Amino acid sequence: MTSRVGPALALAGVHKGVDLPDGQRLEILRGVDLEIPAASSTAIVGRSGSGKSTLLSLMGLLAAPDAGTIQIDGVAAAGLSGKQSARLRNGHIGFIFQNYSLVPTWNVFQNCALPLLYSSGVSGRQQRERVRSALAEMGLADRADALPGHLSGGEQQRVAIARALVTEPTVVLADEPTGTLDQTTAEAVLDVLFATAQRTGTALVVVTHDDQVAARAQTRRELDGGRFVA
Ligand SMILES: Nc1ncnc2c1ncn2[C@@H]1O[C@H](COP(=O)(O)OP(=O)(O)OP(=O)(O)O)[C@@H](O)[C@H]1O
Ligand SMILES: [Mg+2]
Repeated sequence: MTSRVGPALALAGVHKGVDLPDGQRLEILRGVDLEIPAASSTAIVGRSGSGKSTLLSLMGLLAAPDAGTIQIDGVAAAGLSGKQSARLRNGHIGFIFQNYSLVPTWNVFQNCALPLLYSSGVSGRQQRERVRSALAEMGLADRADALPGHLSGGEQQRVAIARALVTEPTVVLADEPTGTLDQTTAEAVLDVLFATAQRTGTALVVVTHDDQVAARAQTRRELDGGRFVA
């Protein structure tokens, strides 16, 4: 593990709005400050529409803020070219979505290997080893050849977790990662997600509606009215 100075991810004074079809502007985030320490776990809660997914897309450099700053591992995201921004994202961020977002025509191994296609400096052989070990960690070693549609929801989400962790990212951003799973499956998926993030020193950020999920994280932050109120 590399030693780091400062937070894994930091947002300061972040604003984000969207133009609505009626010409009005909806201010979704109105001055968000957030520091995610390395090797930590943070839950972001808030009612539906409070801006959690919007915030996650900014943290993952999938969208740019209207104002404020975002730093990933000490590197400011502002002013980067599309290519530089993609490199920063691919090198440091893993994503897990509620609906798994697996490629249906690719098998488990290929889905898990996807983020490695964009990372330089890793040989084909190293890539295959990383994918195998990420899948083994999620208990999917014997499902590498299966198509996503032939897996249960919990298995699909474990593929998505393996995919998010395969690049050994600084931060994993998870948006309602167990929202569509039954409680028993959700708990098993969360157990493996939190344990693996902790073991690998990955900072985990989980957006959730569920207080039981939030209670697993070291820190709980609540969005309301475009800002953190807790
Ligand atoms: N591109 C867009 N155009 C118009 N409105 C948008 C757009 N993106 C987000 N919004 C609005 O911004 C608000 C915040 O959306 P966001 O998806 O971030 O909320 P959320 O907290 O993730 O909600 P949920 O818990 O339901 O997932 C919502 O009112 C949403 O309708
Ligand atoms: Mg959302």
